[in-house]
This record gives sequence, C-alpha cells and structure tokens, in this order.
Amino acid sequence: MVASSGAKGGALEGVEVVARRHLWRLPKPLEQAGIVGVFSLTLLLFFLLFCCAYLDYWSFIPSGDDGAKGLGLKMGIGIGIGRGERDGDGDGCDLIDGDWVWDDSYPLYESKDCVFLDEGFKCAENGRPDRLYSKWRWQPKHCDLPRFDAKRMLEKLQNKRLVFVGDSIGRNQWESLLCMLSSVISDKSSIYEINGSPITKHKGFLVFKFRDYNCTVEYYRAPFLVLQSRAPVGAPDVVKSTLKLDIMDWTSKEWKGADVLIFNTGHWWNYEKTIRGGCYFQEGAEVKMKMSAETAYQRSIATLLDWVHREVNTSKTQVFFRSYAPVHFRAGDWKTGGSCHLETLPELNSSPMSLKKWDHLLKPLRNLSLGSELQLLNVTQLTDRRKDGHISLYYLHAGGPAPVHRQDCSHWCLPGVPDTWNELLYAHFLRWKPMIHKNTTS
Ligand SMILES: *[C@@H]1O[C@H](CO)[C@@H](O)[C@H](O)[C@H]1NC(C)=O
Ligand SMILES: *[C@@H]1O[C@H](CO)[C@@H](O)[C@H](O)[C@H]1NC(C)=O
Ligand SMILES: *[C@@H]1O[C@H](CO)[C@@H](O)[C@H](O)[C@H]1NC(C)=O
Ligand SMILES: *[C@@H]1O[C@H](CO)[C@@H](O)[C@H](O)[C@H]1NC(C)=O
Repeated sequence: MVASSGAKGGALEGVEVVARRHLWRLPKPLEQAGIVGVFSLTLLLFFLLFCCAYLDYWSFIPSGDDGAKGLGLKMGIGIGIGRGERDGDGDGCDLIDGDWVWDDSYPLYESKDCVFLDEGFKCAENGRPDRLYSKWRWQPKHCDLPRFDAKRMLEKLQNKRLVFVGDSIGRNQWESLLCMLSSVISDKSSIYEINGSPITKHKGFLVFKFRDYNCTVEYYRAPFLVLQSRAPVGAPDVVKSTLKLDIMDWTSKEWKGADVLIFNTGHWWNYEKTIRGGCYFQEGAEVKMKMSAETAYQRSIATLLDWVHREVNTSKTQVFFRSYAPVHFRAGDWKTGGSCHLETLPELNSSPMSLKKWDHLLKPLRNLSLGSELQLLNVTQLTDRRKDGHISLYYLHAGGPAPVHRQDCSHWCLPGVPDTWNELLYAHFLRWKPMIHKNTTS
C-alpha cells in the first residue's frame, strides 16, 4: 500500500517537472498577448498537463499492451514533450532522470529458478523476510525503458561475446544478466561454463556459453582494472605490491576483442584496500610513495580511456563504463557495525540526492557521454535511492541471518537493483550504432 502510493507520488512530481518546463519555454512575445490569448494559453496548458498526467499514469502500469504504448508515442511527440520519444528503444531520452515505481509484474526472474546465482546473492533463500525490494522498476520521466526481452537480446548477441570486467559489484551485475537471459532458455544444460568452473566464490574469470546462440557472457575479476604486480626490486620494504596505473590488467588481452564490454571500478580505490595493505601505486618504473588512492583512481581511468582509444575497435565493440554503485552502511561501515537490514523501501522522494560524497569517483567520468567511445551507464544516483536493496544479513546459505554487526550493505540481492542496471544496458545496447569513422580518422 505504502509502496504504490509512493509510486504515484513520484509520477506526480514528474508531471510538475514537465509543467515547469513548458512554462519556462513560453516564448516572450506571448507576454504581450491579450486576455483572450492568455485564456486560451491557460486552456492549452491544462490540456498539456492532463495529457502528461495521463501518460505518466499509463507509464507505471505494467503493460504488454502495445496499444497504450502506441498512444503514448503519438501523444508524446504531438504535444512536444521533446526528449521523450516513445519508440520502444527509448531513443534520445534521458533514461537516468526518473523514479522508482512499484510494479507487480517484477521481478524479471526468481532466484530459485536461476542456477547461475551465487548462494550469497539469493536473499530470499537466505532468509530475507520481505520481497519488496524486487518489485521496483526504474521509470524515466520522459519515456519508458524498453521492457527487457531476453530473446531479443540473445538474438542480437548471436555469435558474440559480452564481457564484464571489474570488481564483485560487477560480478553481481553479471550474474543478474545471466539470470535475466537464461530465463527464456528451457534447457538449462545448454548454458555452461566453458571450463566447467563452478560459479560460487570463483576468483579469476568465468565464461558462460549459451549454446543455442553461440554467444558467451563473461566475467573477469579486475577490481582496479589496471595491473597489480609484485613490488619492483629495490622498492622500500613497506611496498608489498603495486598497481601499475599506466597498464591495463593482464587479462585485457582476453577481452579486448569482445563485442560488448562493461567496465566498473571504484569500491577498491581507497586507503584501506591499497596502501594500508602495502599495495602502492606505480607509474613507469617508479613507485609513487606519496600518491593518494584518489589520484591513482583518476590515473587508472585515464589509462582505461586511452586503452579503449588505442586497442579497441569501436566499430565492432560497444564499450560501457558502469558508474559507482553507492553503499548504504548506516552508523558505521562493514567492520564497525554499519547496518542496512531494516531498510525496506527505496528513497521515493524524487528530489535529486547529492552526489557529493562520490564526487571523487565520478569526476573523471564527467566527459563521457552517449556516443563517445566509452558510454556511461550512469547508475550512481538511481542506485543511491535503493538502500533497501542490499544483502545485509542474508548472505549465508542455510546458516540463517548473519550477526547484526557483520552486514553487507555493498552487494545487492538478486533479483534486485542490478537487474535495472542491465535494463539500462539493454536499452543502450539496442540503441547502439557503431562508430564508423574511427578508423579513418585515427
Ligand atoms: C561462434 O561465435 C564465435 C565468436 O564468438 C565465432 O568465431 C564462431 O565462428 C561462431 N561459431 C559458429 C558455428 O557460428
Ligand atoms: C573493426 O571492426 C569492423 C567491424 O567488425 C571491421 O569491419 C574492421 O575491419 C575492423 N577494423 C580493424 C582495424 O580491425
Ligand atoms: C573534460 O573536458 C574539459 C573540456 O573539454 C577538459 O578541460 C577537462 O580536462 C576534461 N576532464 C577530464 C577528466 O578529462
Ligand atoms: C549522472 O546522473 C546524475 C543524475 O542525473 C547527474 O547529476 C550526473 O551529472 C551524471 N553524471 C555524469 C558523469 O554524467
């Protein structure tokens, strides 16, 4: 009950924003129009508002009904909402500007039906009492996300490789996509890890093949993206290992030829996970004893961009960077009793949440846009609103809830929030047109 009224609230605020935009757009000369003009304008505005409300109303009704969507398309264009072209692929609309809305037709799969899921992500099986977290759909303000169609995606992936590279949050997203895609395959034995490796607690890389489509969906663990190696000879004793900020991870030769590449990094770029453990930063032959994790992160992103530019054929490969997914430890962190286990609802207030806390992680991504060589899946803000979606106490299979002071407020229950990142990925995947000019200009 609470949830659905919240969803309505979100949609209504969307209407307000649209209305404000129209007001702001009124051309100046109209200010001098006579009373009749103002009156008819008011009428027109009411009409527009009504349409918008109507559209927004429909947009959060789960619908396989193309009739309603077709209507949306005509009206959306007819009244000049502009960015919100409803052409099914969400082309041209800002997908990141939106709200979480309750949708009874979600989730897209059940964890008990997905054999490709780490036990640790199966919150339902691990004792989480509510399922609310799996019922929220991301609703852009001015268009719809295309509904995820696993068959269509698999068809487009035929004979192709899709690769995730990053940390365990990237793995979280990879497993989500495996579940979303495999939900339409009835013979699960036709999907297999090519080396027979089990999915649970695997550290290196895993390659799942969908036999009937001859495509693979792969994950490479590279939490820093750049190369981690032994300390160079002659380095001070405190240096146990280094991150070579100017060289990509050694597995890069494996994935540079993929057709779709999805990077992420962020959670490991802090003092605790680097310097405190004796892992320092290196550029060329030199260990930079004074360099901060923040600076090192920025250098590594520059290396990634440069690498994509030099090594990846962006006429063939679609490259994404999935932005940082916020953690939600209340009153502490993972080792000092921080918690999120009492959160059952998203942040439904649609006023934007501040991204200041993550500014150091987002800054180097600011110049990325759709259409550049590396597309940004900008999930930070929409994910920040989902404090309810974490694993919290429910990562122990058959062991019952974990102790309250040992919570995981970084990773996500599946089905759950990473499914939405993949719906965004799907939308961009459908939209993609290869860059045909690259090889002639460089
Ligand atoms: C399967 O896909 C790979 C590329 O991932 C391709 O090289 C190979 O020729 C394909 N096999 C068939 C039978 O189409
Ligand atoms: C890049 O990929 C395109 C599309 O697959 C291909 O036609 C082109 O030959 C490739 N370019 C290079 C330099 O390999
Ligand atoms: C982003 O672009 C601006 C203007 O083109 C440039 O001054 C700035 O250095 C760029 N920032 C990064 C992180 O590349
Ligand atoms: C990502 O989206 C948020 C929210 O819409 C926006 O404030 C931010 O500038 C975006 N970041 C980038 C790098 O585009």
